[in-house]
Amino acid sequence: MQNDIQEVLITREQIQQKVEELGQQLSKEYEGRNPLVICILKGAFIFMSDLVKEITVPIELDFMAVSSYGASTRSSGEVKIIKDLDSSVEGRDVLIVEDIIDSGLTLSYLVDVLERRKVNSVKIVTLFDKPARRTVDLQADLSGFVLPDAFVVGYGLDYAEKYRNLPYIGVLKPEIYTT
Ligand code: XMP
Ligand code: MG
Repeated sequence: MQNDIQEVLITREQIQQKVEELGQQLSKEYEGRNPLVICILKGAFIFMSDLVKEITVPIELDFMAVSSYGASTRSSGEVKIIKDLDSSVEGRDVLIVEDIIDSGLTLSYLVDVLERRKVNSVKIVTLFDKPARRTVDLQADLSGFVLPDAFVVGYGLDYAEKYRNLPYIGVLKPEIYTT
């Protein structure tokens, strides 16, 4: 698996440090409140589990799965809810935990859905951000690392469902996409 990686962009230690910082900021932000933290599956599962351990206010968790790239590295532009929330979000302070924001389509759709369900507030934390690739006006409230316009894998992120278990963020060798 490691042999398929051309370059490590962000190390395990850098990620760990950043996740701690984000957790501290969110603990301040939600002081005295009880947010509902929503993990966007599957990519955000590792970030979610590391992040919530750094949050010191009481939280509840839920999970949502939306359609993504499949085996391709480009967004289809279509957003579909594959797994919806178990809980009601009405009146809740909702924190969306996302792995990476690319075009922004997925999250702008989800924020819309949640607002129609009458949340009290909705904020977005993303570990990685590719602002250069935005096609809609969507910004995270908190973001960890800005990435260049390259397809990355690891720390939850996949290519054709592989590489999610790499503990760092890397770029695949170009021949991996073509074989
Ligand atoms: P949009 O374009 O809606 O996309 O902001 C967000 C989703 O796209 C996936 N994505 C990636 N997945 N490496 C990945 O493994 C990448 O470089 C990458 N860029 C975008 C990701 O699933 C995210 O939830
Ligand atoms: Mg994904």
